[in-house]
Amino acid sequence: MNRKAITSILILAGTSVAGLILAGAGFAADVPQGPDLGRPASPAAVARWDREVAPDGTGLPPGRGTARQGEKIYAAQCLSCHGKYGLGDSGDQLAGAQMGLTSDYPEKTIGNYWPYATTLFDFIRRSMPMTAPESLSDDQVYAVTAYLLYLNNIVGEDAELNAKTLARIKMPNRNGFINAYAGDKDAAH
Ligand code: HEC
Repeated sequence: MNRKAITSILILAGTSVAGLILAGAGFAADVPQGPDLGRPASPAAVARWDREVAPDGTGLPPGRGTARQGEKIYAAQCLSCHGKYGLGDSGDQLAGAQMGLTSDYPEKTIGNYWPYATTLFDFIRRSMPMTAPESLSDDQVYAVTAYLLYLNNIVGEDAELNAKTLARIKMPNRNGFINAYAGDKDAAH
């Protein structure tokens, strides 16, 4: 095969991979795709990426939801992969840990592992359901976050989660993380 043929195959392969990634990320039609790659990103495109939620809740959007509301969303959009009551299936186990983190077979769930409830909101909003990320409204993300926290015995079934109440939640494993590099002057990071 000559070099030109190889180059065009590589370009074709690159285009379809980029197409798949963009399709998988659920991009709206107004966000530049394929041929626009390499152009300066528009403010609208940047705004869609630039919306992290910090551990202290900075960046949480307006909206609200309860576990009772979230249960329905979970059943329709999450259960197929994460199983009944979040006990896991093809997707990770999210609740109901029987083993401690220090057992021979540690079982990491939201309740025994995640240090911040705000990160749970951020993770779900940007990446779940895996087949249609960014498809849930902020109210739906608050509700399904509440349901997962409820399954982990962290909030009540009717407790309203919003930007204020979510940021106030103290997760059980909040102090379980140590900075392995603290005091190590040679560490690069
Ligand atoms: C098509 C299958 C699928 C569906 C549907 C799905 N998930 Fe997931 N989810 C996964 C997989 C696979 C992972 C592991 C991803 C990884 O580690 O990068 C995951 C990871 C997660 C995690 C992080 C778990 C951890 O502790 O690391 C959370 C939280 C989560 N999903 C919530 C949800 C919620 C909420 C929904 C519904 C709105 C949902 N998922 C729908 C497959 C799915």
